[in-house]
Amino acid sequence: MDRNLRISERVQRIEKSAIHEMTRLSKEIEDVAFLSWAKPTSDTPEHIKAGAIAAIKNGLVGGYSETAGLLELREEIVKKLKRDNNIDADVSEILVTVGAIEAISAAVMAVIDPGDEVILPSPTYSTHIRQVLIASGKPVFVPTVEDKGFSLNLDGIEKAITPKTKAILYCSPANPTGAVFKEKELRRLAEVALKNNLMVITDEAYEYFVYDGNKHFSIGSIPEMKRNAISCFTFTKTYAMTGWRVGYLHATKELVPQILKAHIPFAICAPAVSQYAALAALKGSQECVTQFREHYLRTRNLMCDRLDRLNSIFAYQKPSGSYLMFPKILIPDGQDSATFCKKLLREAKVSTTPGIAFGPTGEAHLRLSFCVTEDEINKAFDRLEEYFIS
Ligand SMILES: Cc1ncc(COP(=O)(O)O)c(C=O)c1O
Repeated sequence: MDRNLRISERVQRIEKSAIHEMTRLSKEIEDVAFLSWAKPTSDTPEHIKAGAIAAIKNGLVGGYSETAGLLELREEIVKKLKRDNNIDADVSEILVTVGAIEAISAAVMAVIDPGDEVILPSPTYSTHIRQVLIASGKPVFVPTVEDKGFSLNLDGIEKAITPKTKAILYCSPANPTGAVFKEKELRRLAEVALKNNLMVITDEAYEYFVYDGNKHFSIGSIPEMKRNAISCFTFTKTYAMTGWRVGYLHATKELVPQILKAHIPFAICAPAVSQYAALAALKGSQECVTQFREHYLRTRNLMCDRLDRLNSIFAYQKPSGSYLMFPKILIPDGQDSATFCKKLLREAKVSTTPGIAFGPTGEAHLRLSFCVTEDEINKAFDRLEEYFIS
C-alpha cells in the first residue's frame, strides 16, 4: 500500500474481493463457462417492471421517499412478514434499505463498537466479514459441521462467546454452502443468544429457495427474540431484482430509529423507483417465485449429477437451499483454492469462486452457482470432465 495514501486502518484490513477478482479474470477469457456469480440469470418479471414504469410516468420517483421507506411498501412488508415468516410486525419496525446488504451494514454499524466480537458460523458470505471489519469489529469464525450439511455447531458457538461478543451474524439459506439451518437448531441458537444477551442479525436473502421439504425458519418469529433479533430480507434474489437495490429489515420500534441513524449517512433512502417495483412485486402474483424455485431445483439436481461423475476430484454436501454449493476439492492441487480456481479458469475455461473468499474455514473448497441455465452447467462440466478425466 502506498504510504502517501491516507487510507483508514479499517479499510486496509479488508482484502480484495475474490469474487470480483474472478469476474475480472473471467472477462479476459473468451467463451468462459460461468459458475461464479450469485446473481439470477433471469430478468425481472414484467409486472414488476410495469409497476416501476407506472410510478415514473406518474411523477412519483423524482424525489426522496421517507427515509424508512414508502409507507405503502412497509404496509405490504408487514403482511408478507406475517404470512411467510410468522413475524408479527408494525410499520414502525420496518426499514426499507438498499438491498439486504445495506440493511445488514446499517444493523452492524448500529450494534457493533470497535473491538466487539461478532460470531460468524463459517464458511460464510464474504460480505458479512467485511461488514464486521468496516465497523471495526472482530469476526470470530466458528466452523459449521460440513459432514452434516454445514449445520450449526452450537457447542462451538457457545465456546466462542467471550465478554466482548456482541452479536451473531448468519445467513440461512446459506451462501456459500446451501445449508438451511433447521428450526430446532435456530431455537437453540436463540436460547444461547438470550442467555448471553447477544444480538442476532440474520440474512434471509434466499428465504424462498429451499428444497426437498426443508423449511425456512425466521429466528425473529420467536417472541422472546423480539429485542435481540434484527432480521434482514431482500427483493433481489426472490424476484430477480439484483440491480434494483431494494431490501428491508425488521427490528423493534426502539431499535429501528437507531439503525436509521446509520442508514441515512449511507443511503438517505432506498431508490424510490425500486420501492415502487418492490411494491408491485409484493402485490402481484407470486408465480414467478415458484418458477424460479423450480428452475433452481432442476439445476441443483443437474449439478449434483454432474459432480457425481467427478467424485475422485470433488466431494459435496447436497444444498438444501439457496442456489449455491460448496464442494470440497479432494486432490492435493486444490488445497490452495485461489490458485486452483485461477488454473481452472485459464486451463479449462470454467469460472468458479475460491473457497478462501468465505473465510479461513472455506479453504480447499470452491463455490459453484446453479442460478444459471442447464446448458451453462453442462458446458462447464463437459469441460471439467475433459480436463480432469480424459
Ligand atoms: C447471502 C447474501 N446476502 C445478501 C446478498 C445481496 O443482497 P442484496 O442484493 O439484497 O443486497 C447476497 C448476494 O449475493 C447474498 O448471497
